[in-house]
Amino acid sequence: MLKVQDIVYCVFSAPDLDKMAAFLVDFGMIENGRTSDRLFMRGAGPYPYINVIEKGPSSFVAVGMLAGSAAELEAAAKLPGASAIENIDAPGGGRRVRLTGPDNYRFDIVHGMEPAEKLPVRDPLAINFAWKKQRVVNLQRPAFEPARIARLGHCVLKFSDGDRAAHWLNQTLGMLPTDRLHVPEDPSKTLGTFMRCDRGQNPADHHTIFALQGMPGDINVHHTSYEVQDPDAVHIGNQWLHSKGYVAEWGVGRHLLGSQVFDYWRSPYGHIFEHYADGDLLTADIKPGDYAATAENLAQWGPELAPTFFDSVRL
Ligand SMILES: [Fe+2]
Repeated sequence: MLKVQDIVYCVFSAPDLDKMAAFLVDFGMIENGRTSDRLFMRGAGPYPYINVIEKGPSSFVAVGMLAGSAAELEAAAKLPGASAIENIDAPGGGRRVRLTGPDNYRFDIVHGMEPAEKLPVRDPLAINFAWKKQRVVNLQRPAFEPARIARLGHCVLKFSDGDRAAHWLNQTLGMLPTDRLHVPEDPSKTLGTFMRCDRGQNPADHHTIFALQGMPGDINVHHTSYEVQDPDAVHIGNQWLHSKGYVAEWGVGRHLLGSQVFDYWRSPYGHIFEHYADGDLLTADIKPGDYAATAENLAQWGPELAPTFFDSVRL
């Protein structure tokens, strides 16, 4: 059975690749190749790209998930409606199978990409805690720069039937439910399910895909989220994006479910991009939780939830 092990990339389309490249560089990514109609953006980690921007009307195109093995890729090609195994025409090559998920979301199952050389990111800051000092004659001077993206961490997709989507992610991609969020007034109604990769006893992020219940007419990506070194990087990235005049959505705060220090921004085409640091890691044996979707269960601290936060696209 397929057990995806990571999220590799998200594909968007946008009318102006230069405009998206400029935003993504200020957001903390690095350009790693371009054709007349495709832009590849990477983080500091080993994947040759974590965002692909195709030239076209603004939309979300696909999410790429890492197959556990070549045998899993071959198994994916036998699933109902799957494409044949295709060579990937992009930096790092590799092979993929395209699956059509609930609401026609495209899930690429990828394997065999050539890893890119890791890029430097500043070391984590040494923090002087009240009763634990670890920095003496070593001044704290993090640079004012974009929050350098290490990796793509998760995406949140709105589905017409969030429960069915979570079931599909479990049955088809082998993902595990971490926490369910329910409507506070009616616990039988699911607002969304956080799904993580099944890595057995190896740690996995609290969620890699969040299957969110969408409203009729609003089935779209909600946000994609990128890991940075530490909470200072999140705050400095916030200042950097403000200084460049981009549209802030919600943050800086700390989530409850997943515990990430978060900060949400809008791309020039209105899609939400999140910086995060210090997220929870879980092993496969942890049983799912169930929480009411109240403000205090969305964030432990931070500004009040922005009223526009659940709008898929805000310009
Ligand atoms: Fe997120």
